[in-house]
Amino acid sequence: MARISYDEGMAAAFKAVREISRDGLSEWRDAVGRHLRPAPGMTLVDIGAGTGVFASAFRDWFGLRVVAVEPSAAMREHIPRTPGIEVLAGDAGALPLADASADGAWLSLVIHHILDLEGAAREIRRVLRPGAPVLVRQAFPDRYEPFGPLRMDGIETFRWFPETARLAGTFPALEATCAAFAAAGFHRETLEQVRDSNATSLADLLARVDTLRQADTTMRSLTDDEFLRGKERLRRAVRHAEAGAAPEPRGNWLELLVLR
Ligand SMILES: C[S@@+](CC[C@H](N)C(=O)[O-])C[C@H]1O[C@@H](n2cnc3c(N)ncnc32)[C@H](O)[C@@H]1O
Repeated sequence: MARISYDEGMAAAFKAVREISRDGLSEWRDAVGRHLRPAPGMTLVDIGAGTGVFASAFRDWFGLRVVAVEPSAAMREHIPRTPGIEVLAGDAGALPLADASADGAWLSLVIHHILDLEGAAREIRRVLRPGAPVLVRQAFPDRYEPFGPLRMDGIETFRWFPETARLAGTFPALEATCAAFAAAGFHRETLEQVRDSNATSLADLLARVDTLRQADTTMRSLTDDEFLRGKERLRRAVRHAEAGAAPEPRGNWLELLVLR
């Protein structure tokens, strides 16, 4: 069974509060550029494309042809229909692409939704040309404290709602992810931390946090008490900022795993 249903309500909430502005993605632009080495005319398959934030960024930044594959009709509905972006129904285990037809695969915050990661890795191997990379944007639970070197507060939901880590702890670990892809013939090339940033204030996060609870898999796992405690933590931080404390920069540190 899928973790959550990306129905119309979820898609609207995702669109309202989860999309990162283009300005906040500059570090991702640099990181993807370095590893994909994009050239106009290349085809990138965006698997689990959601509302199309990255599909449109890749088209605009690099002039790529993007095939945005997304199983949820409600999410697909939000993907901009522009030349250079082809929007298709499908999922990671059954990609609507011909053999050896893509020059790269992008999976942002998707692998924890894929029930058979080995099967998906085999399917990705089928559609990629030899030597093409798989780029995974993800928070791997074994990389965060207390198991790994990364700080929990590098991710906003963990910081304000620490119990979200309970569900995130069940997501595929880095080693398990690499093993699933290795079975399909990919090796781990790089792992690096990349930050997205958000120019809005904590007060803005507080104003939208009820919608965020609907739009984020880990936030949906919170009990009402856990959610209210986190909201109070956030409210106190907003008051602190209003009392003159230096505003904290907003954003998240996730990782880019490159397999080839
Ligand atoms: C957290 S959203 C991420 C959307 C987008 N990649 C982004 O970063 O903005 C997860 C997406 O994965 C999709 N998804 C769920 N199961 C999937 C599967 N088996 N294969 C491909 N996509 C899947 C969902 O429908 C949803 O749109």
